[in-house]
Amino acid sequence: MKFLAASALLSSFILSANCRVVDLSLRQDSYPADFKPNFDSVFSVVIQKPLSTVFPILGTNQGLGAHILLESIASDFEEGAADSVNVDGNLEDAFVRTAAAAPAGQGFPRQHFSYIETIKIIPGLSFLDVVVHLDGTYTWDEARNITLYETSSDKSVVVRKVRRFEEIDGGAATNVSEIINGQCPFLEQPITQSQARTAHQAQMNLYHTLFE
Ligand SMILES: *[C@@H]1O[C@H](CO)[C@@H](O)[C@H](O)[C@H]1NC(C)=O
Ligand SMILES: *[C@@H]1O[C@H](CO)[C@@H](O)[C@H](O)[C@H]1NC(C)=O
Repeated sequence: MKFLAASALLSSFILSANCRVVDLSLRQDSYPADFKPNFDSVFSVVIQKPLSTVFPILGTNQGLGAHILLESIASDFEEGAADSVNVDGNLEDAFVRTAAAAPAGQGFPRQHFSYIETIKIIPGLSFLDVVVHLDGTYTWDEARNITLYETSSDKSVVVRKVRRFEEIDGGAATNVSEIINGQCPFLEQPITQSQARTAHQAQMNLYHTLFE
């Protein structure tokens, strides 16, 4: 079963390599106009720390690299420019990754970043590994305890993730909940959908390790 999934993934990468010309035109950053999510994931974890401890680490650029690298396939995190962005309405409804920076002192803080994901197609055969380069922004609304994570990759996968922080147990603990909406090539949808949920839950289940 695993092998079938791997070969389906491999052949779809070969197909998408053949369609590189199409891919490139899609990747002219047409986000958010052409963003049509076809996979999703919803999950939450409780961290036994107050929101005032959790938010700086999981809600701002302070712990961004650390929590991205909790994803087992992530590496080479690099922080880019830090700027800010103006949003019409609420951050959770906005798309800011490709938006122009606001004048200094205005809008929500935004951190640009990049990292690499290495997907092993067949364990042990590292020459088959699929190496994905991701670029993204992380933007936060500290007053409302909500953040927005957005990435695009050179394998035509686009992700938008809203994270909410809520005080529970009289402020002793924090509920961190996330909704991911993503878009990937049609042929990869079944694999991406199931891998996204598995990876999302595995990563969030490790968030508590950033506070120990
Ligand atoms: C955000 O969290 C703080 C605690 O750090 C809380 O006082 C505040 O009411 C929260 N804001 C909203 C809009 O829930
Ligand atoms: C955390 O928040 C999510 C989303 O609102 C909710 O579904 C879940 O029940 C909450 N968990 C706790 C322990 O409050």
